[in-house]
Amino acid sequence: MSESTYPPVTEHLSDPETAREEGRRKMDWALQHMPILNALREEFQTERPLEGETIAMAMHVEAKTANLVELLADGGAEVAITGCNPLSTHDDVSTALNDHESITSYAVRGVDDEGYYDAMHACLAHEPTITVDDGMDMVKLVHEEYPDLIDSILGGAEETTTGVHRLRAMDDDGELHYPVFAVNDTPMKRLFDNVHGTGESSLATIAMTTNLSFAGKDVVVGGFGYCGKGVAKKAAGQNANVIVCEVDPRKALEAHMEGYEVLPMREAAKKGDVFVTTTGNRDVITREHFEVMNDGVLLANAGHFDVEINLEELDDLAVDRFEARDGVEGYEMADGRVLNVLAEGRLVNLAAPIALGHPVEVMDQSFGVQAVVVRELAANADAYEPGVHDVPDDLDREVAEIKLAAEGVDHDSLSEEQREYMGSWEHGT
Ligand code: NAI
Repeated sequence: MSESTYPPVTEHLSDPETAREEGRRKMDWALQHMPILNALREEFQTERPLEGETIAMAMHVEAKTANLVELLADGGAEVAITGCNPLSTHDDVSTALNDHESITSYAVRGVDDEGYYDAMHACLAHEPTITVDDGMDMVKLVHEEYPDLIDSILGGAEETTTGVHRLRAMDDDGELHYPVFAVNDTPMKRLFDNVHGTGESSLATIAMTTNLSFAGKDVVVGGFGYCGKGVAKKAAGQNANVIVCEVDPRKALEAHMEGYEVLPMREAAKKGDVFVTTTGNRDVITREHFEVMNDGVLLANAGHFDVEINLEELDDLAVDRFEARDGVEGYEMADGRVLNVLAEGRLVNLAAPIALGHPVEVMDQSFGVQAVVVRELAANADAYEPGVHDVPDDLDREVAEIKLAAEGVDHDSLSEEQREYMGSWEHGT
């Protein structure tokens, strides 16, 4: 396979030098607040566990991710990266990454579908031995168009819920031909990143994009999984009345017992001022809901793909569309109501023009898990059959221990007697 002719981001930019400096500044700021990546960097620079590996990544290319990329390169890997969403790339960060001799970044903000996939093909032209995905587009492309690479790929790592869902479906169909770790499903990732990260950054982005408050508003949260719980909790903390819509009766009950109002979307649609979808599913908000919504509502999605709010149906209903603010598009209905869509229905906390993604601290945890998982693939890939794998618990604990030490938090440990007791079925009354 030949080297790609698709140019790295630097060649797409009019003033790459200024962009590079700004990108580096963003990365440096984030790194000051990433104790886990800093600790792993010392180990990776000394021991070079990824020497000889080539990593192809499709992730949100912003400052925190860039620090993960540099960590992997400092561990000895060649890294080729592109975005996992057409709107989430920070071009300045993307071009700053190209300063590192072992990194090529192809990620460019605002690409169309063709540009999105051209960049992914360019990453795969590096002939990776490891893939790191956020949403599974890279693994899919390898299997569909680069089957010759599969034999030399040790394995992959997947960052998000939707990617893990897709991978499990592929695995169930017998179509996944190398091992992939479900990084999303670790406690160190999901309990922090999905809950606190999505909750905080989605609401912060909506507030900053619109300059509006949540206080006293009816905020409708579609889906009460990990992300939905975070959005609901943080919205309630900002004095909103939270309404939850769920399809899983246990999650609906959980939301009810947490004190939230639970309604079907057809009822919530009539009440809501702000809507945030977090389901990973399609068509959560559709024509029947748009038809009954109040004038001026805000519609935002925090799920991985832009299919949760059906924008085609909204467009059909609209008599006019206009840019209401940067990152806000007004859809005017025939009766004069305006429904406002943020960030083109793409995940709002990363795709809105001012979006910064999750707080640095939570991404330090998620990317700490990514780094130790990639290290595990380089060291022990033979131990894993093709398919989706849980991340070994000791790796997740390792990341937690680093974080606790950095925070100066001490904690208890099991005694030998306790360990033996917990592992035994023989103790009774
Ligand atoms: P989850 O599986 O924990 O929760 C999803 C919930 O949505 C489930 O409780 C499910 O029953 C519910 N649901 C499904 N279809 C629904 C429908 N039509 N109406 C109402 N509820 C419905 O998943 P998690 O971890 O909360 O992730 C959700 C999405 O957010 C995924 O696409 C994931 O990839 C994405 N994500 C986004 C992040 C961001 O930065 N914006 C960060 C992490 C995850």
